[in-house]
Amino acid sequence: MSEVTDKPGAGAAAQTILELLPEPVILVRGREGESPEIAYGNRAAREVFRIELAGAPLGAALRRPEVLETIEAALEMGSSAEVAFETIGVQPRFWRAFARPLDADAGGVRQLVVMLRDETDARRTERMRADFLANASHELRTPLASLAGFVETLRTHARDDTEAREKFLGIMAQQATRMARLVDDLLSLSRIELNEHIAPSGKVDLPRTIQDVSDAIKPLTGERAVTISVEVDPKVTPVTGDRDQLVQVIQNLVDNAVKYTPRGGRVRVSLEAAASLETARAPSRPGVGLSLLSPDSPDSHAYVVLRISDEGPGIARQHLPRLSERFYRVEGQRSGGTGLGLAIVKHVVNRHRGGLMVESAEGEGSTFSVYLPAAPQA
Ligand SMILES: Nc1ncnc2c1ncn2[C@@H]1O[C@H](COP(=O)(O)OP(=O)(O)O)[C@@H](O)[C@H]1O
Ligand SMILES: [Mg+2]
Repeated sequence: MSEVTDKPGAGAAAQTILELLPEPVILVRGREGESPEIAYGNRAAREVFRIELAGAPLGAALRRPEVLETIEAALEMGSSAEVAFETIGVQPRFWRAFARPLDADAGGVRQLVVMLRDETDARRTERMRADFLANASHELRTPLASLAGFVETLRTHARDDTEAREKFLGIMAQQATRMARLVDDLLSLSRIELNEHIAPSGKVDLPRTIQDVSDAIKPLTGERAVTISVEVDPKVTPVTGDRDQLVQVIQNLVDNAVKYTPRGGRVRVSLEAAASLETARAPSRPGVGLSLLSPDSPDSHAYVVLRISDEGPGIARQHLPRLSERFYRVEGQRSGGTGLGLAIVKHVVNRHRGGLMVESAEGEGSTFSVYLPAAPQA
C-alpha cells in the first residue's frame, strides 16, 4: 500500500481542497535579508485579507507589526510559531495564526505556511458565558447579603424587639422568594436551551391558554386595579407548540404589561390569524417597532399573532435591542423581577420557529408581539 499522498492526481486534488478550505492559508517566502512576500493565498485568504497579487509583501495582508515580527522570526529560524491578533473593520474579528516552516525551495529560498483560524465566535461565546456567570452570581448575592444582614440584626439589636422582628421576617421572606424565583427562571432557561434545537410537536389552543394565564394572574391584577381584555380573531387556529412553554411566554409578557400599567389601566391581549410571514410581522403602530427575533428558516405560511399592549411608561428606543438579553433592565426602573422573563420568551419563541417584536416609545405604552407557526390543518 502506498501512502495516500502518493496516489496519482492527489497533488491536484490537494490543490483544489486547499483552494476550497473555508479558512485562510498563506504561503510565505523570504529571501535572505529581504522582507517576506506572499507566494500564494487560498481563496479564503485572498477574500479576507484582500491579497491581490502573488509577490505582494506579507505586510500588505497582515498589517499588525507583532504578527509580522512573529512570522518573520519563524521564517528566519525555520521554527513554528503561533500568534493571536484582531482585525478591525465593520466587524472586529479575532484570529489565531499558526506558522509552520516548510523545506526551502530548490533555489534555497525559505518557505513557511501560515494557517489562520477565525476565533471570533468562540471568543464571543466565552465572553457571554463569563458575563452570564458574573451576572447570575451578582443577582443571587444581593438578596443573600440582605438575608444574612437581617439574620445578624435579629440575633443582636433586634433580639427583643417584637415589632422589628415581624418587619424583618417579612423582608426576609420576600428576599427568599426573590432568590427562589431567580433560581426557577435560571433552571427554566437552561432547560429551554437544552432542547431549543428540537421543534415542539404538540398542538396548542392559544385562546384557552390565554384564558388560563389571565385567570391565574387575577390576584395581581385585582390588587393593582388593572383590567385585562382579551380579543380573539375567529379565524385563529391552533399553533404547533409546547403548551407549558407557551404558558411561560404569555405569563411573562402579561406579567410585565400588568406590572408597568398604572392603577386602573388596561392591558390588551389579542390573537390574530396571519396568512403569511409578512402579515405576521407587520407593525401594529407606525415607526416605533423593532424585531427582537425572526425565524431564520421560515417553514410555515400561516401564523398566529399574539399581541400584548399596555398603558405603561413605554421604553426608550435605545433600550429596545437589549430587552431580551439576560438580566437587562431599563435603568432607573425597579422591576422587582429577575430580568430573565424576556430572555425566556425569546428562547421559547425561537424553539417554536416564531418571531418576537417590540413596539414602544417613551410615554406611549408598549406592545409586545409574538408570532407562531399555525399547526397544519387536518
Ligand atoms: N411592558 C413593559 N413596559 C415597560 N418596560 C418593560 C416592559 N416589559 C419589559 N420592560 C423592560 O424590560 C426589562 C426586562 O424585562 P424582563 O426580562 O421581563 O425582566 P423583569 O420583568 O424581570 O425585569 C424590564 O426590567 C423592563 O425594564
Ligand atoms: Mg418580566
